[in-house]
Amino acid sequence: MLTPNAGRLRPGLRLSLFTVAALTALAAAASPDTHVSNKQSFATDVVYQIVTDRFKDGDAANNPAGAAFSAGCTQLKLYCGGDWKGITQKISDGYLTGMGITALWISQPVENISAVINYSGTNSTSYHGYWARDFKRANTAFGSIADFQALITAAHNAGIKVIIDFAPNHSSPADPANSAFAENGRLYDNGTLLASYSSDPNGLFHHNGGTNFSSLEDGIYRNLFDLADLNHNKATVDAYFKSAIQGWLDLGVDGLRVDAVKHMPMGWQKNWMAHIHGYKPVFTFGEWFLGVNEVDPANHAFANGSGMSLLDFQYAQRVRQVLRDGSKTMQDLHQTIVDTAGQYGQVIDQVTFVDNHDMDRFHQAGAPQRRLEQALAITLTSRGVPAIYYGSEQYMAGNGDPNNRAMMSGFGTGTTAYQLIKKLAALRKSNAALAYGTQQERWLSPDVYLYERKFGSQVVLVAVNRSATSATTISGLVTALPAGSYTDVLGGLLGGGSLSVGSSGAVPNFVLGAGAVAVWQAAPAISTPTLGHVGPMMGKPGNVLTIDGRGFGATKGSVFFGSTAVTGASILSWEDTQIKVSVPAIAAGRYAVKVRNASAVDSNAYAGYQLLSGPQVTVRFIVTNATTALGENVYLTGDRFELSNWSSSTPVGPAFNQVVTSYPNWYYDVSVPASTTLQFKFIKKNGSAVTWEGGANHTFTTPASGTATVTVNWQP
Ligand code: NOJ
Ligand code: NOJ
Ligand code: CA
Ligand code: CA
Repeated sequence: MLTPNAGRLRPGLRLSLFTVAALTALAAAASPDTHVSNKQSFATDVVYQIVTDRFKDGDAANNPAGAAFSAGCTQLKLYCGGDWKGITQKISDGYLTGMGITALWISQPVENISAVINYSGTNSTSYHGYWARDFKRANTAFGSIADFQALITAAHNAGIKVIIDFAPNHSSPADPANSAFAENGRLYDNGTLLASYSSDPNGLFHHNGGTNFSSLEDGIYRNLFDLADLNHNKATVDAYFKSAIQGWLDLGVDGLRVDAVKHMPMGWQKNWMAHIHGYKPVFTFGEWFLGVNEVDPANHAFANGSGMSLLDFQYAQRVRQVLRDGSKTMQDLHQTIVDTAGQYGQVIDQVTFVDNHDMDRFHQAGAPQRRLEQALAITLTSRGVPAIYYGSEQYMAGNGDPNNRAMMSGFGTGTTAYQLIKKLAALRKSNAALAYGTQQERWLSPDVYLYERKFGSQVVLVAVNRSATSATTISGLVTALPAGSYTDVLGGLLGGGSLSVGSSGAVPNFVLGAGAVAVWQAAPAISTPTLGHVGPMMGKPGNVLTIDGRGFGATKGSVFFGSTAVTGASILSWEDTQIKVSVPAIAAGRYAVKVRNASAVDSNAYAGYQLLSGPQVTVRFIVTNATTALGENVYLTGDRFELSNWSSSTPVGPAFNQVVTSYPNWYYDVSVPASTTLQFKFIKKNGSAVTWEGGANHTFTTPASGTATVTVNWQP
């Protein structure tokens, strides 16, 4: 047992998560859109993903004792001692800032179970942070709340944002047949027991068995592996996660990575995100795992509708195929760039990576290091927010969990990968094309990819030759770079040379060496209003919206939501690269956001802002006796934007009919406006063929807070 966890914190510190406000110290001046204080956009950042237990042990005194701990980290399913003090040390000694890292994504910080679980002979612990016991307390093996605050303060002082992992899908492993297994999924609210998996009178957990991953519904409402699955349709669970996340946001957290978003109702997550964005809006991205070659429209719908972005698994799996495994070509990679630009409403907000703690590490022992270097170079210069898995810069290898989660192998700053990240992280801050720009193919073959990022007059051209043996002559290249001569931003680190550009962007033939990567750029000041990013992309009237870009000017102009101008005091701040506005109280719907400067010059329009009707609650809509013909599904529609405004072409759903209710009874959890009398109907659809319910519209008045369920019988 992990006994030292219990009682190590003094009682006063235990409460401090909710009583002490974090002090956000601001780092050295930078334009507001690129500054560490910008929690709504990570477009100019480089994220570094740390498994907290595996980075740096900064305090041996907090290490679990006994069977839970592995001295020397030889048993990778046990705790190895890494903690928040260790991360703070690596901020203070310059290791992270020296690499250009401007955001850390750390393990879920909440209190986890201390049990050592025997899984077919292997002792396992909660070292990864995904086995929560109390989301309102800290994991004492990672440190105290004071240590956490010290980490946030040190990070902000160094220009680094802190993203926490957060896993509201489940508590911890439970065995329905054996309440003595592990900690029986017990969930606490700042020390008060809410429920255990075997003693759950209020139904805070699902008791539907484990998922076989056969459908989206099956994965949401059954247990993921043996993890005690929480029922977000319960007001207690909803309120618990709203207040728990407020506590962490109050500590100064800058971003959230939400675990297992594919396994929770989207309606509940949207309502939770609306709550967060109305409280302290932070950049949030979810984990929706996609396997190799998997493309899932439900994943795109989630990214475009839930109020959070996603980890870009489509990109990650493809870049691994192209540069790690050699099973796909650069043409395939470019096709993924094209496809995802259409699939994701805001592709620059999806978080790109080449590996993580759930995949084999990209680098393989004995493989050429250049493959990883190329993958990192592409990830750091392509659309999306790049996240680098800890130890990549040290060429750590390791296949599968837990070999991909070994203790950090060392902190040398001389590796090529470390230097590469440093150079490109700086470019993400200085050239807005990397943050906000389009991505266009300029030269393509199975082995060679030249692409250009462009934002206004700022341009970055990247050339990559994955062949380790053949140089390629690049002929007929045209670029948006102005005429002139350009040196490689990487200074030849990966074999790149300089580029000369003639009139109209024509580039004389040149040779791109085997294995080479070159980056050329121009970043003239942008003086016309050019909108790069809007965040968060979902909100309600009165929320604060942050608009980033360049050339807005120093004098206040106006901001448009569609044709509605926001002016005067509703513009909360106006700077050349950042504007903050109060979201106007106009009809709910999707709006394009646009900036008009003080001289009446308009920016580009940024489409897709989702304006909600008001504060949200989650309602479970159930229809009974809705029999369908083969190929037909049941959907919901109604008189609010959140219910699709009576759309039969893009209604809410399809509803589910397997786990919580069974066919011919269907259900769907939906984020809808609170304290509102809704009118709604169910419809049956097969392709474009629609059968409406007959009779009068159903009505339902939603609660002011909490959750609700409304059940109607299908009206023929
Ligand atoms: C996905 C996480 O990334 C993985 O490591 C974890 O085990 C599961 N979700 C469950 O929390
Ligand atoms: C939309 C109408 O507003 C609603 O009242 C009606 O039930 C459906 N269309 C079906 O006709
Ligand atoms: Ca420690
Ligand atoms: Ca679930």
